[in-house]
Amino acid sequence: MSEVKLEDIVSLAKRRGFIYQGSEVYGGLSGTWDYGPLGVSLKRNIMNAWWQTFVDSRDDMYGVDAAILMNPNVWKASGHVDTFTDPLVECSNCKGRFRADHLEGDKCPNCGKTGTFGEARQFNMMFKTNVGPVDDDKSISYLRPETAQGIFINYKNVLDSFYPDLPFGIAQMGKAFRNEISPRDFIFRSREFEQMEIEYFVQPDKWQESFDALLADIHEFLKSLGLPAESIHELEVPDDDRAHYSKRTIDIEYDFPIGREELLGLAYRTDFDLKNIQDNAGKNMEYTIKGTNDKFIPHVIEPSFGVERMIMAVLTSAYREDEQNGEKRIYLALPEHLAPVKYAVSPLLKNKPELVAKAREVYDALKKKHGNVMWDDNGNIGKRYRRQDEIGTPYCVVIDFETLDDDTVTIRDRDTTEQKRIAITDLE
Ligand code: GAP
Repeated sequence: MSEVKLEDIVSLAKRRGFIYQGSEVYGGLSGTWDYGPLGVSLKRNIMNAWWQTFVDSRDDMYGVDAAILMNPNVWKASGHVDTFTDPLVECSNCKGRFRADHLEGDKCPNCGKTGTFGEARQFNMMFKTNVGPVDDDKSISYLRPETAQGIFINYKNVLDSFYPDLPFGIAQMGKAFRNEISPRDFIFRSREFEQMEIEYFVQPDKWQESFDALLADIHEFLKSLGLPAESIHELEVPDDDRAHYSKRTIDIEYDFPIGREELLGLAYRTDFDLKNIQDNAGKNMEYTIKGTNDKFIPHVIEPSFGVERMIMAVLTSAYREDEQNGEKRIYLALPEHLAPVKYAVSPLLKNKPELVAKAREVYDALKKKHGNVMWDDNGNIGKRYRRQDEIGTPYCVVIDFETLDDDTVTIRDRDTTEQKRIAITDLE
């Protein structure tokens, strides 16, 4: 387990504008979270890094962005209508409903009574909705509980447009919705969250090598986010615990403040999904090896990342406390490419117009080049440093009277708190 406490992460996230409770002003909506100005940057930086690593920098990956609402047959064929369930029990005393496999003993966590649970029943986690103005059985659709199916239903489109050689992957990131019985642990188990998924299509007898290669790519990516190797664990999921579609799954677990829990999964889905589409939609999903008559339905390896869990892991690994000048300091040692703000620029004194004008010049130039640059002239310089440390800004740039003479500035490093004098031209 991480030594960082969950309440410290939650408190920093709220205080500094990363993550707020969803609909807080109306008392909240359980299992939903809103991203503030810094949270949205951190989230986008993680998602952009993922897209850059797994899609843009590779020749064998294609991106898609499918509609969230899909034909309900997608979810019938995929098995979600019948089997995407968790066991639910109800307390006969307080009527509280709980996930049976999350309970410890037979004591109700809400009212404290024992022996009040009835039989567990299967609860389907998909959010149902109606598409169009008629509210009947024919108009039922679902908010997607995974982005994966939006990829599978576009496999043939991508094949017909790009004629890729096997193996190749299709990637998608975006919202997913699950009506979790008990959302909990901050953003870890939410009802609305984002996924980043790849369906990697392979020849059936070559699945193992792609599985191993993707596993290695996943570890490289986690390292690039600054997650320490000793906090990452592979769990070979036993037969009984695997999803209905999987022949092999490795869960990548992380030492979160709530304990060792699933960060993402890597599953060998065989031809389960494409075969189901072929059988249910009546469309041929076969792949023909170029220049041969060799036809088959490709098998699939699926790396499936949850964005919220990546954010929680990144915040946990970056959270630090130390002492500076006898005072406790909190800082986020975020890797530069994830930090919501790269440079904070300040005039030493905000009531000196010549310093402010020069600082604005430096700020404008950096902002034009990097975008994620913050103007910060609130409070004294010590307070500004503390604030920037807490949001993980790697560099604070201060313009003082010396700057006016020789075009040098002070640049302070977040992690070491060391300050150096450098030429403005060297800031780049
Ligand atoms: N397409 C396969 C799939 O969706 P999953 O294990 O159900 O597999 C993949 O989900 C990942 O999505 C998980 O490893 C986790 O990171 C994330 N995830 C799943 N449910 C979540 C929830 N309720 N809240 C936040 N993230 C969730």
